[in-house]
Amino acid sequence: MNIDELNSTARAIVAQHKGILAADESGPTIKKRFDAIALESSEENRRRYRELLFTTDGIEQYLGGVILYDETMRQGTADGRPFPDLLSKRGIIPGIKVDQGAKALALYPQEKITEGLDGLRERLAEYKRLGARFAKWRAVIEIDERDLPTLYCIRANVHALARYAALCQEAGILPIVEPEVLMDGAHGIERCEAITSHVLEELFAALDAHRVVFEGILLKPNMVIPGMKCARQAQAREVAAATARCLSRYVPAAVPGIVFLSGGQSAQEATENLNAINRTGTHPWALSFSYGRALQAPVLAAWKGQEGNAKQAQKDFLLRCRLNSLACAGKYDNNMEKEAA
Ligand code: 13P
Repeated sequence: MNIDELNSTARAIVAQHKGILAADESGPTIKKRFDAIALESSEENRRRYRELLFTTDGIEQYLGGVILYDETMRQGTADGRPFPDLLSKRGIIPGIKVDQGAKALALYPQEKITEGLDGLRERLAEYKRLGARFAKWRAVIEIDERDLPTLYCIRANVHALARYAALCQEAGILPIVEPEVLMDGAHGIERCEAITSHVLEELFAALDAHRVVFEGILLKPNMVIPGMKCARQAQAREVAAATARCLSRYVPAAVPGIVFLSGGQSAQEATENLNAINRTGTHPWALSFSYGRALQAPVLAAWKGQEGNAKQAQKDFLLRCRLNSLACAGKYDNNMEKEAA
C-alpha cells in the first residue's frame, strides 16, 4: 500500500478550493431525476447528459474529481472518447461508486445496511484498469426524534465502511468514506449533532481497527442540520458552528479532506452552508463539497433533455461549480446568485 500516493490523490482533489461532482446516480436514482424533467431514462439519454456535464468548459478550475457509476465508467462522448480518459485529460480525477445500495437491515425495521463487499477486491482491480483513482461507498443512517438510529445499525454500517476502505487502500484506490445521517424527519439540529458525533466516533474506531490509514481517505459526511420537517430551521451560521464543532471533536487531523454531501439541501443552501462552515476559522482538513443534487438540480432544470438548452445548462453548471469553489474559500456571497441571473 502506497499511502503517499493515496494522500496526494486526496490533496489533489481538494487543492485550490476544488471539490467533487457526484455523478454516480444508480439506474433507479437517475430515473427519478429524469422523471422530474419528463425525460426517458434510456442508456443514450444518460450518456448524453453525462457528456453535457463532463464537457462543460472551465469546470476543471473548480472540480478536482468526478464520481462515476459503473455504466458511466464504460461510456464516452458521441465522438468516442471514454469518460474516464476525457476527465483525466482535463485534470479531473475519475472515481467510482462501488457500493451496491442500501438495503433493509434484517430484523431492524426502517433501518438500512449498505451491500457490495462480496467480490469487491476483484471489482476494484477492474475499475483501476478502467482509470478510477478513488472510490465511494455510502452508508445511510435513518434518524428520528427518539429511537433511531439503533447502535447495531451504526456499528453494522461503519463496519462495512471500514472493510470497504481497507480493500480500497490495499488496491491503491483512495476511499471516500460516506456515512450519511439523513436530513429527512422532524428532529432538531441538536439531535443531528448528537447522532452525527456518535456515528463519526464509531466510524473512526472501526477504520482504525481495520488498519485503514487516515491520511489516505476522504470523509464525506452530512452537515449538522435540522430535519427537513423540523419546525425550527437553522441559519447558515448555526449549521456552520454545529458542523465545525462536531467535526473538530470527532475527525482526526490526519484526514486530508472533508467533502460534504448535499443530502436534499437546495443548491443555494448547500453553497451558503459550505461558505459559512469555511468561515468558522482554520481547520486541519480542507472543507469542500462532493455534491450530487446541489450541483445538478439547476442543470437538469435548464436542460430538460433538449439539445437547444445544452449551452444554458452548461452555463448554469459552471456557475454552481464556481460558487461552491468560492464557498470553499469562504468568499461566496448570495448576491452573486442575483448577479449571475
Ligand atoms: P447529494 O449531494 O445529492 O446528497 O449526493 C451526494 C452523494 O454522492 C450521495 O452518495
